[in-house]
Amino acid sequence: MADMQRVIYFTQRPHGMVTRDAFEIREESMPRLSGDKDVLVETVYASVDPYMRGRLSSGKSYTAPFEVGKPMTGAMVGRVVDGGRTALQSGEWVFGSWSWSEYAVLPETALRRLDPSLPPTTALHVLGLTGLTAYVGLTKFGRPQAAERLVVSAAAGSVGSLAVQIGRLLGLTVYGIAGGEDKCRWIEHQLGAEKAFNYQAPDFADALARGLDSGVDIYFDNVGGTVTDEVMRHLNPHARIVICGQIALYNQAQPTQSRPLFSDLLVSRAEATGFIVGEHQEEFPKALKRLQSWYRLGQLKVEESIVVGFDQWIDAFLGLFSGANRGKAIVQVKDA
Ligand SMILES: NC(=O)c1ccc[n+]([C@@H]2O[C@H](COP(=O)([O-])OP(=O)(O)OC[C@H]3O[C@@H](n4cnc5c(N)ncnc54)[C@H](OP(=O)(O)O)[C@@H]3O)[C@@H](O)[C@H]2O)c1
Repeated sequence: MADMQRVIYFTQRPHGMVTRDAFEIREESMPRLSGDKDVLVETVYASVDPYMRGRLSSGKSYTAPFEVGKPMTGAMVGRVVDGGRTALQSGEWVFGSWSWSEYAVLPETALRRLDPSLPPTTALHVLGLTGLTAYVGLTKFGRPQAAERLVVSAAAGSVGSLAVQIGRLLGLTVYGIAGGEDKCRWIEHQLGAEKAFNYQAPDFADALARGLDSGVDIYFDNVGGTVTDEVMRHLNPHARIVICGQIALYNQAQPTQSRPLFSDLLVSRAEATGFIVGEHQEEFPKALKRLQSWYRLGQLKVEESIVVGFDQWIDAFLGLFSGANRGKAIVQVKDA
């Protein structure tokens, strides 16, 4: 095995749109096992996620910012290279959180062995954070009733594409919003939405008004900004707004808001709830059981945008903010 490995460091807080300047790739010594409970893993699949943009800033948030001068970290699927004196065997697939690096040494307790009967990348989406986010957000905070009308923004993304399908499986009429006609047709034809609206089209507001003429009962919002401003015009009485993410605002130096959203809530007597999936772990066992059952039955379509190569890691992260991905954005760091 090589003596050196590559690691991606966070070197500069971005203001406005994040660029490559925020990061640096460094070469450093391979990590070595030191304790009895240590495991050496190689990073095979890395998750890149929009929440990481929030952690690059130092403002108030629900989680601590990344420290400048430290490696980036995130959710990974890796393979055990050396299980040391632990129960993990070389070659086993594991899930955990570690630095954006080719290899890492972690205590056995920080790793979860993956079910070999499932594709390992499912731990990064449908049976991981984004699947749980879609399920818990929609069921706990959307409180869906059959035949209600659900609108999902960033509907071609990882959370959004699952929220659309879960909504359908729960008997809702689902509408998606995404950037570009191709994504919209995919949401309609592959995910089964009633209709999808391209927020980049010049007639977006009119198309939405025509398509949502019966109103919105649940709005699963991944985006915020002008997309949300438009959806809020169409709330039905007692609608629920599930505030999952606000990606349109993450890179804005000066956030803007064009509509008086509290007035929208008042007029429709609606309820808007922000939630962070990690605070609802009591929901996970039931959610995972349901997600796994739908997935195994082929009722949930899972799309992956995999970019290959350590060198593509930073660009894959940046691509989240220009809509480069359809479904879950993943970096394949090593051969599977
Ligand atoms: N609350 C929680 O616990 C929780 C957990 C996980 C994720 N989230 C949030 O859920 C949202 C989706 O996350 P994800 O992991 O599934 O990412 P994702 O949707 O797979 O990727 C991000 C997508 O957002 C869209 N987007 C980017 N910039 C935009 C802009 N300025 N305006 C409108 N759309 C924009 C792009 O799609 P288009 O091509 O359609 O523009 C892009 O593909 C994010 O806001 C994230 O922060 C929340």
